[in-house]
Amino acid sequence: MKDMAQTSRLAAVTGASSGIGTAFARALAARGFDLILIARRQDRLDELARELAATHGTASEILTADLTLDADLARVEDRLRAASTLELLVNNAGFGVGGLFADSPIAGQDAMHRLHILATLRLTHAALQGMVARRSGAIINVASVAGFIVSPGALSYGATKNWINTFTEGLWLELRATGSPVRVQALCPGFTCSEFHDVAAMDRTKLAPPAWWCTAEAVVAESLAALERDRVFVIPGFRYRVLVALVTHLPRGLRRWLLVRFARRSGRLRAK
Ligand SMILES: NC(=O)c1ccc[n+]([C@@H]2O[C@H](COP(=O)([O-])OP(=O)(O)OC[C@H]3O[C@@H](n4cnc5c(N)ncnc54)[C@H](OP(=O)(O)O)[C@@H]3O)[C@@H](O)[C@H]2O)c1
Repeated sequence: MKDMAQTSRLAAVTGASSGIGTAFARALAARGFDLILIARRQDRLDELARELAATHGTASEILTADLTLDADLARVEDRLRAASTLELLVNNAGFGVGGLFADSPIAGQDAMHRLHILATLRLTHAALQGMVARRSGAIINVASVAGFIVSPGALSYGATKNWINTFTEGLWLELRATGSPVRVQALCPGFTCSEFHDVAAMDRTKLAPPAWWCTAEAVVAESLAALERDRVFVIPGFRYRVLVALVTHLPRGLRRWLLVRFARRSGRLRAK
């Protein structure tokens, strides 16, 4: 147990109420971080905070927020801007919607852009200014293997994750160009066991065979190990590193043919 009077390290995790976010919170608590836990489901965050306090002596602050709403996002931004000891921000909150773009309700597409792009943009800015001034800190933006691929049946998902990859790589370049020791990482998982596919009403068995599914814990372990080495793109799992290398180097015509076949098999083209 930690002595609560001592100055502790502080990390903030969005989407901490399940899946990869919960795994980040647990891994960071085990490394001695106190936490700002952010998501909509307060009961889940309360339960996690109790668990981390009992297991690691972690002090958790809970921010219940829907990051697609302007007022909630502004409240979280203000908190991060004021967090003068913040060492790590994990922009992890996210979700998927399948279906043909033209058939999908625009509200879900709009919310995805707000969460993956606007919230990542604004929270990164709120945290980064202090980190750059203190010459210390790191930001992990959770993107996806889908960010390297145009995905029929999940257009906005691939496009918003592609934005996260480009944005994070750009930040990495700016920080290196200015000699800043602050680190940024785009974490690009493949299929990971979490609530993600339940929320998106996707059939896991149609997406990939069991060997292609990672645990959230393994994804987080690779991310945190790679942060030590200042790797900008982190693709957990050998299979996915090979897949991304192949897909991004295939002739464009062949890549498109394969993507259409995969989209048909996955059942993602049905309207949701
Ligand atoms: N699972 C995969 O196969 C996979 C693969 C690649 C990338 N990813 C990415 O990994 C990240 C985490 O996903 P996951 O797999 O851990 O899925 P998950 O278990 O469904 O977790 C998603 C988290 O995001 C939070 N969230 C969703 N909408 C929110 C909103 N409007 N405001 C605030 N928080 C919100 C959820 O909390 P509340 O519902 O309590 O708000 C939850 O904590 C996402 O960015 C996802 O795109 C996942």
